[in-house]
Amino acid sequence: MRNRRAALAALAGATSLALVLSACGSQDVGASSEGGTIGIAMPTQASERWIIDGKSVVDDLKAKGYQAKLVYGEDDPATQVSQIQNLIKQGVDALIIAAIDNKSLNDVLEQAAAADIPVISYDRLILGTENVDYYVSFDNEQVGRLQARYIIDQLGLEDGKGPFNIELFAGSSDDNNTKYFFDGAMHLLQPYLDSDQLVVRSGQTALDEVTTLRWDGATAQKRMSSILAESYGSRQVDAVLSPYDGMSLGILSALKADGYGSGDKPLPIITGQDAELASVKSIKADQQAQTVFKDPRLLAEVAADMADDILNDKTPKINNRRAYNNGIKAVPAYLLQPTSVDKTNYDYVLIAGGYYTDADLK
Ligand code: GAL
Repeated sequence: MRNRRAALAALAGATSLALVLSACGSQDVGASSEGGTIGIAMPTQASERWIIDGKSVVDDLKAKGYQAKLVYGEDDPATQVSQIQNLIKQGVDALIIAAIDNKSLNDVLEQAAAADIPVISYDRLILGTENVDYYVSFDNEQVGRLQARYIIDQLGLEDGKGPFNIELFAGSSDDNNTKYFFDGAMHLLQPYLDSDQLVVRSGQTALDEVTTLRWDGATAQKRMSSILAESYGSRQVDAVLSPYDGMSLGILSALKADGYGSGDKPLPIITGQDAELASVKSIKADQQAQTVFKDPRLLAEVAADMADDILNDKTPKINNRRAYNNGIKAVPAYLLQPTSVDKTNYDYVLIAGGYYTDADLK
C-alpha cells in the first residue's frame, strides 16, 4: 500500500507523530504531523548547495503540512546507509535521497520497499535497484554541454582559432551524474580534440583518468599541480573543464601557485557548476570564468510536489521516461533546465533571481 499517509492519519488519531519520532538524532522540522513525515538524506554539508537543497525541501514539505527529518551523510556512504536505516525504523512515509555512492543503497532500499516507503532519488540517480520510484534532477548532459559551449565560445573554436591547451576534470566516480556531465561536455569538445584545435597535454582524456573522488577540491588541486609540473614546462594551459565549483577553486589555487593570473600568464578559462557563493565571487573578480546554476529551490519544489502526490495516490508529474536507466529500470524523471552563468549575467540570474543579494557577493 503506497498511501501510508491516510493509514497513518487513521492510526495516529490525536497522537502526534512527532512524539513517536522524537529520539532520532536527525533534524526534526515541522509542527504538523497530519501530512506524515518525510525523510531526507543529503550527501554533505561541506558544500553550500546541499545545505540550500536540504533547507528548501524541508520548507516546501512543511508548507504542505508534512514533518521532515533531514540528515547529512557527510560524504561517507556507510553513514548514509545507517541514516536511511534509522529513518525507515522511525517510520517515515517517504524518502528523498541524494546518494553519496549511487550503488551502496540497494540493501537499505530493500528495507524501504518492505516497509512500503516510496523513494525519490534526488539530483543523483540511485543505481542497481528497482526500489527507486522517481528521479528529480536537472538535465545533466546539458550541464556538460553548457560548460563545453562556454569554452568553445571563449576560445573562438568555431572561428577556427587554436591550437589551445585544455585539461579535463570530471566528478566523483561513484556519482551517476559524473558521466552525464562529462559525456555532455565531450560530445561538443571532441571534434576540436580531433582537429587539434584543442590539445590535452597531459594525455588524460578518458573518464576514468579524470574523475575526482567525492568532488574534492583539494584532490582536483593536487591533480592540476602535477599536470602543470609534468606536462607544461614553458607552455600554458588555456582552458580547464571543471564540473563543479568546489573543484574549480582548487584548480584555480594550483594555477595561481604556478604563476597564472599575473604577468604574461593569464588564467585559463575555468568552468564550474552550482553557482556557489565563493565561485560567484571568483567570477565577479575575473578568476573562475563560468558556472552552471541549477536552482536548488526549483529542484526541492519538484521533489516535495512528487512526495506529496505519491502520498496522496496521485501520479507525480514527470517529463522524461527514458533518459535515466538505473541498470534495472528506466526511472521516471522530472528534469529541470540548468543555466550558464558568467560575469555578464550573474546579476540577472542570481541577484534579480533572488538567490543571492548584492551584499552576499561583496
Ligand atoms: C553532483 C551534483 C552537482 C554538484 C556535485 C558535487 O551530483 O549534480 O551539482 O553539486 O554533485 O556536490
